[in-house]
Amino acid sequence: MSDIITLETVKIERDGATSFIILNRPEKRNAMSPQLHLDMCEALDWAEEDEQTRVVVITGAGGHFCAGQDLKLYFRETENNPKARTRARRAAHEWRWNKLSMFPKPTIAMVHGYCFGGGFTPVIACDFAIAAEDASFGLSEVNWGIIPGGLVAWAVTEVMGYRDAIYYSVTGERFSGKEAGAMKFVNKSVPNDKLRETVMELARNLEAKSPAAVRYTKEALRSVRRMTKDQALDYLNCKSDALKHQDPEGGREKAMKQFLDDKVFKPGLGTFKREEA
Ligand code: COA
Repeated sequence: MSDIITLETVKIERDGATSFIILNRPEKRNAMSPQLHLDMCEALDWAEEDEQTRVVVITGAGGHFCAGQDLKLYFRETENNPKARTRARRAAHEWRWNKLSMFPKPTIAMVHGYCFGGGFTPVIACDFAIAAEDASFGLSEVNWGIIPGGLVAWAVTEVMGYRDAIYYSVTGERFSGKEAGAMKFVNKSVPNDKLRETVMELARNLEAKSPAAVRYTKEALRSVRRMTKDQALDYLNCKSDALKHQDPEGGREKAMKQFLDDKVFKPGLGTFKREEA
């Protein structure tokens, strides 16, 4: 188990095998500054390497998820400094999409309060998203004369129906956590006072499963989306074989034995009994 690292704009907290990575600029509604992007890259690298961490939750401090890019520090202050803008852009993309969408452990976005603009990308990149019913989502870019850039426009079409994506991007109208749940922008919404409990219920469920099976399943789902059927079939056969040989816990054999020989486990009803590798 590694020590939790200290960062200027991001806080890390443990809850058992689940690590919370918290955007921590509550006085600015967690608007994302260039420093926050760099800190998030570091935080995710830490969580990837930390052996105790099995599940990562991304959320924001002070009752809000994220007010989008910091209009002053990310946009205005890098306006005439192309190098700084490029660095900020690279880091912003790196954690919000590259690192999160390829993360080897399951990730959950826990959304409360405001979630605007660039704050959508990490919600979409996480494997799961759970929102408070009264959370407030907005693709507000159009309200101040810009487009949902930095991959936001692309990302929303990954999870929203096209009608909803166009509607909310072009009108800038907000939608609630409850509406986000109904349109499946998030997996579900719950009353704000049940948000953490609901997230932890999912996290504990994921913690108990074979880390290798969870990782390979995520990777498989992500990859097959853009493949033809024949490519997917070939890839999935190879992926299944790879998992069989590369799971340090030997989950498949253990599960087979527990179900077929020992008769102590029913795979349709729960997780096989793991022993740490
Ligand atoms: N960039 C920079 N600063 C921001 C910010 C952003 N995206 N969002 C909020 N802040 C700052 C405010 O300037 C204010 O700073 P100050 O205390 O130094 O004046 C502080 O955060 C609190 O914001 P405030 O507007 O007073 O809080 P609120 O609770 O009344 O409203 C929002 C919160 C999020 C609705 C409002 O701040 C807002 O509309 N922000 C912009 C959201 C947006 O369009 N983001 C898309 C960017 S891609």
